[in-house]
Amino acid sequence: MSDDRARGLLARLTVQQKVALVCGTGMSRDFLGWGGRVPGAAGATLELPELGLPESVHADGPAGVRIAPTRDGDDRTFYATAFPVATALSCSWDVELLESVGRAMGEEALEYGVDFLLGPAMNIHRNPLTGRNFEYLSEDPLLSGRAAAALVRGIQSTGVAATIKHFAANNTETSRFVLDTVVSARALREIYLRGFEIAISEASPGAVMSAYNRINGQYASQSVDLLETILREDWGFEGIVMTDWFSGDSAVEQVVAGNDLLMPGTQGQLDELNGEIGRSLPMEALDRNVLRIIESVLATPFARGHNASEAPDLPAHAAVARRAGAEGTVLLANRDATLPLSPDDQRIAAFGNTSYDLISGGTGSGDVNEAYTVSLVEGLRAAGLDVDAEVEARYLAHLESERERIPERPWFLPQERPVELGLDQSLIEAKADESDTALITIGRLSGEFEDRKLDDDFLLADTEVDLIDRVSRAFHAVGKKVVVVLNIGNVIEMASWRDRVDAIVVPWQGGQEAGHAIADVLTGKTNPSGRLVTTIPIRYEDLAAARNFPGVESGEEVDQGWVPLPKGRPAVITYEEGIYVGYRYMDAFGVDPAYAFGFGLSYTTFEYRNASSPDAFAGDEIEVTVEIENVGETAGREVVQLYLAAPDGTLDKPPVELRGFGKTAELVPGQKEIVRLIVDRRSLMSFDESKNAWVADPGTYTVHLGSSSRDLHAMVTFELDHPFEMTVRPALPLRQPLEEIRP
Ligand code: GLC
Repeated sequence: MSDDRARGLLARLTVQQKVALVCGTGMSRDFLGWGGRVPGAAGATLELPELGLPESVHADGPAGVRIAPTRDGDDRTFYATAFPVATALSCSWDVELLESVGRAMGEEALEYGVDFLLGPAMNIHRNPLTGRNFEYLSEDPLLSGRAAAALVRGIQSTGVAATIKHFAANNTETSRFVLDTVVSARALREIYLRGFEIAISEASPGAVMSAYNRINGQYASQSVDLLETILREDWGFEGIVMTDWFSGDSAVEQVVAGNDLLMPGTQGQLDELNGEIGRSLPMEALDRNVLRIIESVLATPFARGHNASEAPDLPAHAAVARRAGAEGTVLLANRDATLPLSPDDQRIAAFGNTSYDLISGGTGSGDVNEAYTVSLVEGLRAAGLDVDAEVEARYLAHLESERERIPERPWFLPQERPVELGLDQSLIEAKADESDTALITIGRLSGEFEDRKLDDDFLLADTEVDLIDRVSRAFHAVGKKVVVVLNIGNVIEMASWRDRVDAIVVPWQGGQEAGHAIADVLTGKTNPSGRLVTTIPIRYEDLAAARNFPGVESGEEVDQGWVPLPKGRPAVITYEEGIYVGYRYMDAFGVDPAYAFGFGLSYTTFEYRNASSPDAFAGDEIEVTVEIENVGETAGREVVQLYLAAPDGTLDKPPVELRGFGKTAELVPGQKEIVRLIVDRRSLMSFDESKNAWVADPGTYTVHLGSSSRDLHAMVTFELDHPFEMTVRPALPLRQPLEEIRP
C-alpha cells in the first residue's frame, strides 16, 4: 500500500519539489537544531501539505532524545532522559536490557514528536583517543552489531525509526569532514562494516547515516560502492540513507550514490541540484531517492496519525537508566573484597571533583538535555552512607571558583575540566582517621569535533596522580581502604597507579541516574556484571592504532562548499593494522593488556562445566552449551563469551575472535544455568581479498568459553569437513598498495 501511495505521490511532484525533498529543511544558525515542529531537533524533511505529505523530524542521539528543553512562550519543559553512554550500555553485554533502553528512548522520541532517532552510533573503538568513543559500542564488530541491533529493535518497537551511524570507518574526529581513511577490503569487511551488517540483518533499522570521512578516496556519502553495492546489493538494506550534517562536497554525487537525504539541507545544495537536473543529475537517481524518502515519511508515527503527548513517562525511564548504569558498570579491581561496602564502611570521604559533579555523558550531538544528574555524593547519601561534609564543602567551593575561571566554549564542544583540588595533607590525614573508606572519582569529558589527547586525558594529570598517592598513603597508614571510581567515556591509562588502590570501579558516563547506579554497585545492591568492550592497554603505544592516529595532513586543498563549519586541514589516516584491532592485535602480537577485552569482576565467582558442541559442523549453525554455576557467596550474573580459534589456513587470523556471548540470569549461590550459544557459518568465515569472498577453511575449530578474551575456562572442538565461500561485489578499492602489519 505505501509503495503504491508513494509512487502516486512521486508522480505528482514537480522537479523542484523532488529536489526540495532530498534536502532537509535546514538548521538554525545557533546549531540548536531546527527540526520543524519539534524545536531543538537536529533537522526535518520538507512537508507538502497540498499532497498530504507531512514533514519528518530527526533528533539525536545515542544516549537519549536531544531536543530543546524549553520553548519560548511555553511554561512546560521538554526534558528527555539521559541514559548511560553507549560504551556503558554495551558493557552490560545484555541484549534484553539494551532493547529495553532502546524502547524507552523510542517512547520519548514518539511522545516528543520525533520520527527518526539519530542513533545508535556504532563505529569501532579503534583508538582510545577518538573523541566520540563514548557514543560507540565496542572494539569488536560482533558485540557492536548485536548491541546496536538490540537498541534498534527497542527504538523501532515504538514506531520511531532508528538511524545507525556513521557509515563507515568514522573512527577519528580530527579533520573528520575531509579525512581520508585508507583501509584494506578485509579490514573494512571484517571490522568496520561487519557490525553494521549484523545490525541490518538482525534489526532492519529504518535509516543509515553515512559518515563524514572518505574511504580510500571516496566520500562515504558519495560512494556508490558503499551505499548501493555493499549496503543495498550485498546486504539488502531497504531503509533510507541520510548524510551526516553538512557532509561531503557534491550534492549531485550524494544523490547519484544513493544517499537519499542530504541533511540538514542547505541552499547551496538546492542550487547545485536544481542547476544539474538533466545534466550530471539523472532524473532516475532523483526519483529513486525521492521514492525511498516518501515511503519512509509515510511510515512515520506522525504520518500514521500519532498525536505526541509531549509528556513521556520520564520517571519510568529514569529507572531504566539507573538499572542500565549499574549493569554497565565494570569492576576492574577489588583487593581483599574491599567492595561491596559493608555496614561498617558507612563513613565515606569522597575526593575528586567529579564526586560532586558527575559527568553524565559526552558533548555534541551525543549529549542530552536532561532535567538533572544525580551526583555520586547524592547517590551515596540516598543509599544511607555518611559522606564527609567538610571535604564536600571544600570541593563545592573549589568547583564554584573553577566555574568562574573556566572560559565558556560553544555548547557542542567539550568544556575545559576543573583542575583537581590540592588538599592539604593534614586534612587528608584527619579524614583517614575519621572515615572508613576513601572514594576518589576521576572524570573525563570528550565529544565530537575533537579527539582526546594523551596528557591530562588518556594519562592522569599530575594533580590526579598526587591525589591518589596522598589519599592512598594516608588511608592505608591507618588500615583504611581506597576505591577509585572512573567516570570516563572511554579507556584511560591505569597500569601505573592501579596497585596503589584497593578497588577500581568503572561506571563510565552513566547518564542522569549515575549517582544512584554507582551507589547500587558500591553497596552491593547490584552485583557488578559489566564486562569491558574495549581492551585497556598498559601503555597507549602498545596499541597498533597508536602509530598513525589521528592521521597526517595530505596537503590537499579543499573546497569549503556549503559547509558552515571549518572542515579542518585535509588529512589521511592509514589503517596499517588491518584487522588487528584491540584484543585481536594484543593476542596476535603477544602484547599483554592492563585489562583484557571482556574482563570484569563480580562479587561472586562462577564455574564453567560440561561445555559441549556437535563433533562436526553441519547445516547453517551448531549449538554450543556450557553449564555455569555460581560457586560464590552472593547472587550474580555471568557473561559467557564464546571465542573461536580457526584452523591454520590460507589467511592469517587472530588467535581467537568473539563469535558469541550470553548473560545468565541472576544466579543465587549454588544455582546453575545452561547457556546455549549459536555458531553460524559466518562465525567461521574470514574475508579473502584474493577471492573477494568470505571463506571458511575445513579443519578443526576450537571453541573457547570464557569470562574475557584472556580468561578461557572451557573448550570444545568441532570439525568442518568442507570449505565455505560467499562472494561479494568488489567495492572501495585501495588507490595505492597498503602494507599491513602481519603477526
Ligand atoms: C553531527 C553528528 C551526527 C549527528 C548530526 C546531527 O555532526 O556527526 O552524529 O546525528 O550531526 O546532530
